[in-house]
Amino acid sequence: MTLYLDCSISFSPLHYRIDFYHDLLNSSSLFAASIAHLGAKFAIVCNETIAPLYGNKLCQALQQLGLKSDLLMIKDGEKYKTRTTKETLENELLKKSYGRDCCLIALGGGVVMDLAGFIAATFCRGISLVMVPTSLLGMVDAAIGGKTAVNAIEGKNLIGTFYHPKKIAIDPYFLKTLIANELKNGFAEAIKYGAILDSSFFDYLKEQVHLLLALDLKEIEKMIFKSCQLKLQVVTADPNESGLRHLLNFGHTAAHALEKVTNFEIAHGQAVALGMALEAYLAFLEGYLKKSDLLALIQLLQLFGFSLKLAASIEDQALIHTMNADKKALKRQPRFVMMKEIGAAVSFAGSYCATASVKNIEQAVKWMKNDLCSYPRADL
Ligand SMILES: NC(=O)c1ccc[n+]([C@@H]2O[C@H](COP(=O)([O-])OP(=O)(O)OC[C@H]3O[C@@H](n4cnc5c(N)ncnc54)[C@H](O)[C@@H]3O)[C@@H](O)[C@H]2O)c1
Repeated sequence: MTLYLDCSISFSPLHYRIDFYHDLLNSSSLFAASIAHLGAKFAIVCNETIAPLYGNKLCQALQQLGLKSDLLMIKDGEKYKTRTTKETLENELLKKSYGRDCCLIALGGGVVMDLAGFIAATFCRGISLVMVPTSLLGMVDAAIGGKTAVNAIEGKNLIGTFYHPKKIAIDPYFLKTLIANELKNGFAEAIKYGAILDSSFFDYLKEQVHLLLALDLKEIEKMIFKSCQLKLQVVTADPNESGLRHLLNFGHTAAHALEKVTNFEIAHGQAVALGMALEAYLAFLEGYLKKSDLLALIQLLQLFGFSLKLAASIEDQALIHTMNADKKALKRQPRFVMMKEIGAAVSFAGSYCATASVKNIEQAVKWMKNDLCSYPRADL
């Protein structure tokens, strides 16, 4: 089987590459050759779902190609993105005599990217890292930009670092085994780029929704490539999130709170979809966003199959209280990225986020308890 190395985006200021592959595992020699210089030994971190699908195969392939490698496995789920799991994996690395000259390969979805990235950042004060995302959300977002983290009881991603991989390998073939709901979750982050960065990408997603949902690999690859470009534009301009990069948090103040109050029962992508609808409505209430643009966003989210109704069991005040602990909060007042129109957000002197009135936040949460799927609604 041939391996096609189609295109790559060089990420010059931070010196790593995003390489696109087709069916990387069935012809791993090119991939192996591209990482061989990165370590004396390779630890592949994946979860119990990915190990039988791809992890064992990648480990064996690297060994056959002369690279020493081990597979390290974690349980599947956001609730395992913790300091405890990190410590368990670090102990395993130490027991297997991994040191500073080793390389970690993160193989999986965003949970594995964030966790393995954080381990690579701190193990022996930093070792080489290669990201091989297998979920759509991992490919369009989590693998890129160097954010690593674990969750704490107090909230999402509260402990972590910025640490960039040496290489990101994207192969849409991995998506063939991803369940439809997880595919959909990845589209939430792509819709986010359209909503706050690029109206033509927003229109493209709307036009190609059927092919994308049907996993047309050619179209999906185009969509991933564009998403990577959009995220890189922002990350290269503001690697440590001092202003512009806040933009990428659109929908996430509410999304992270939702994940927390539901004890991570809700998937990140679904939470981001709900969060974007809530925060766009908030921008509308605060007078930044036109009703027609709010409705356009809601419509696109619904086209991709997102349910935009908050579960009745979620208590309004618990959700609002949890937003106060968001990393962007100032003096316990949550801040939100405010959409200005499709493809743009309000700058707020370059900080790209702002507080909102308590009354409007409460109204937005209440509004989300209504069934938005009956769009278009008259009660905006
Ligand atoms: N660091 C960042 O910049 C960044 C950006 C966005 C999201 N995130 C984080 O990413 C996480 C969400 O990522 P996610 O949506 O990928 O969740 P995930 O990692 O939990 O993966 C979703 C599910 O899909 C399964 N899966 C992944 N690839 C598969 C494949 N090819 N075939 C079959 N099953 C597969 C996983 O085992 C899991 O059950 C969250 O923790 C979020 O905070 C980080």
